[in-house]
Amino acid sequence: MTTQARDEIKIGGLGASRKRVEDNRFIRGKGNYVDDIVLPGMLHMEILRSPLAHARIVSIDTSKAWAIPGVRLVLTGEMMATRNLAWMPTLSYDTQAVLATDKVRFQGQEVACVIADDPYIAKDACEAIVVEYEALPVIVNPTQALADGAPLIRDDKENQHDNVVFDWEVGDRDGTERAFAQADLVSKLELHYPRSHPSPMECCGSIADFDRSTSKLTVYMTTQAPHIIRAAVALVAELPEHMIRIVSPDLGGGFGNKVPVYPGYVMSILASILLERPVKWIEDKTGNLISTGFARDIYLKGELALRKDGKILGVRMHTDSDHGAFFSDAQPSKFKIGLMHSAFSCYDIPSAHLTARGVYTNKAPGGVAYRCSFRVTEAMYFQERMVQAAADDLGMDQAEFRRRNFVRDDDFPHRTPFGFLTDSGQYGKCLQVGLEAIGYEDFLKQKEEAKSRGRLLGIGISTMTEPLGAGNSREYDILGIKMFDSAELRVHMTGKAILRTGAKTQGQGHETTWAQIVAHELGIPADDIVVEEGDTDTAPFGMGTYASRSTPVAGAAVAMVSRKVRAKARKLAAHLLEVSEEDIEWELGRFYVRSSPETGVSIQDCAYAAYSNMPDGMEPGLENVAYYDPPNLTWPFACYIATVEVDPQTGVWDVLRFVAVDDCGVRINPMVVEGQIMGGLTEAYAMASMQFITFDAQGNCIGSNYMDYLLPTAWETPGWELHEVVTPCPHHPIGAKGIGECATVGGPAAFVNAVLDAIKDTGVRNIDMPLLPDRVYEAITQRHDVS
Ligand code: CDP
Repeated sequence: MTTQARDEIKIGGLGASRKRVEDNRFIRGKGNYVDDIVLPGMLHMEILRSPLAHARIVSIDTSKAWAIPGVRLVLTGEMMATRNLAWMPTLSYDTQAVLATDKVRFQGQEVACVIADDPYIAKDACEAIVVEYEALPVIVNPTQALADGAPLIRDDKENQHDNVVFDWEVGDRDGTERAFAQADLVSKLELHYPRSHPSPMECCGSIADFDRSTSKLTVYMTTQAPHIIRAAVALVAELPEHMIRIVSPDLGGGFGNKVPVYPGYVMSILASILLERPVKWIEDKTGNLISTGFARDIYLKGELALRKDGKILGVRMHTDSDHGAFFSDAQPSKFKIGLMHSAFSCYDIPSAHLTARGVYTNKAPGGVAYRCSFRVTEAMYFQERMVQAAADDLGMDQAEFRRRNFVRDDDFPHRTPFGFLTDSGQYGKCLQVGLEAIGYEDFLKQKEEAKSRGRLLGIGISTMTEPLGAGNSREYDILGIKMFDSAELRVHMTGKAILRTGAKTQGQGHETTWAQIVAHELGIPADDIVVEEGDTDTAPFGMGTYASRSTPVAGAAVAMVSRKVRAKARKLAAHLLEVSEEDIEWELGRFYVRSSPETGVSIQDCAYAAYSNMPDGMEPGLENVAYYDPPNLTWPFACYIATVEVDPQTGVWDVLRFVAVDDCGVRINPMVVEGQIMGGLTEAYAMASMQFITFDAQGNCIGSNYMDYLLPTAWETPGWELHEVVTPCPHHPIGAKGIGECATVGGPAAFVNAVLDAIKDTGVRNIDMPLLPDRVYEAITQRHDVS
């Protein structure tokens, strides 16, 4: 380690495993979540939800609710409609009912709400509302949605004559057809990535506080993207933007669940405006699980055109995605199925073609990016499952098959089969590190030996690069707002500083890591920098935190604003040292005279001078703001390898070992990065082994509580063995790539591939997640695929 690097670690700069400063308040119970906020005169809101998945509303009788003492307001769709608020736009150019007027379209849909003196009165009053429904036929999957004569779910939309949300294609259809015509072998696979829920520990909620005397609306709410919400409120409620303040305080996780705009937020705002009192809405766990942004629920048909020697010549994919009753996921406007077409980006494949169809069903709005960059999780799962199936079809070792098709280290920037430009990577090296760590060759021998004694061992590999950091303004926008991000840095007179960004941490540790970037750029100790996010009155405009975009975009803005501040500090240093700027050199935290290195001034001296001794004509102060429009997405790479043992008598499988090799470029805080990987792998294990939400034929949600919706605890979670490779991102100011999602995205396929490898002799090609023991047992005993 160089002296400079050692000095930097001392001040908590890049590469320091600095303890998370936010944990100081969290572990003392001093976090400040929405539900902790109590405002004078605050009222409480509860939502009445539909018990039916598809039904016409015949009548709603709220008289008994109004009669309960302490009830201040009962809102129905009809009342919302008089203010033109019964429907709201979604982040995907669709509309969503705030409160149902005509019919309900999924179980759990918002039908009415009550505002009362306390939450218990509000809940009782909700139960006193009488709703008469006329049940309609229910659609719970794309096959039913697309069937001839299927009932029309979105009959509220003028030009909607079927249940199709979109029909989209990308890639080179003709080129791909030619590739398939030349193939020695075509490998096919059909899969379902089941519906799941991000399930953050804290549910959604808001406190709207409209002050008539100032006309200012303040909303404290659980949002990962406060500025997008402010823009949406300004546009939908037609309130002036400068009179809206959105505050996202501490969040107990988000994972994509806290990106969309939910009806509860809108109703609490309207209620506060009508009652001129603060109105709090805190969702309960069942409300969160049945009605807010679901993820995945997508069917894939995939084909790989293969040459005998293992070369992949082309890819063909078709997806049918179930979006529920309203198309409300946030994703870049241009891409209907998110970044599904980032599939196969780490492989050198000449041509690819994807067709994607989205459908409405009688399920809660789905498709949010659960800890993933807009469908990247599904893309990488399909990719790695197809890669394993293809290697098996060719009779080729799965590691060797990957190696043969990887993009080579000297082939960057590389144009992917669907047209993305990947920036850098050492894919072969990552795989090699992983294979060595797991002891690949030894395991294969062990596996054969175990087989002779009736034991089923398997090894699964998942390798992938994913696009993180949406996006660049040429290609990425949400509702027309370009996806840049921002940072504002103010260095005080004593050299201490405050940094604000347009991102919003939900537990990822931005308060810790952003300060480390400033420390790296300016030499100010990280402990001297406070980081603030989430208040639209103070933070610069940014697009928020999801899709692992914070480090690639807001993190880059932090570096850029620090550099702007350093440029001014250099002028101040020249003034203090009485030399010209050109004669000055910079080292961590200090400017010095080139010809006399011992003569210098610290960054703190410059800060003091900015307020007390600036040169004539210079504007006082030491602060700046940077908006960063990234030139490209960052492309981290990961290699995950699982070994498992499957019990043929029960279908139960245990993880023997799990090796993760992540390359996220320069690591700002290695400890935080490892925490992100471990958390992500735990979610991947959850998807592979237990976590899914189903619906019965009537559209009843199975999985509306934690007895049915299973999340792994520390008890079930395997141990993770972590390794790293570092390929700096060539276009990011500090060489960092995103990491928050890699493990959730790439992890599931490693487990599933391992289980299928263990039972390969049965000829079973696929078991859909989660790999519950009964499914595995059925596959082993009946020797057929299980979905
Ligand atoms: O957007 P989000 O914060 O969820 O994801 P991210 O940008 O991948 O960052 C997750 C956390 O890991 C943040 O605290 C980052 O600063 C940190 N990180 C890091 O220390 N080094 C990297 N190369 C990437 C992320």
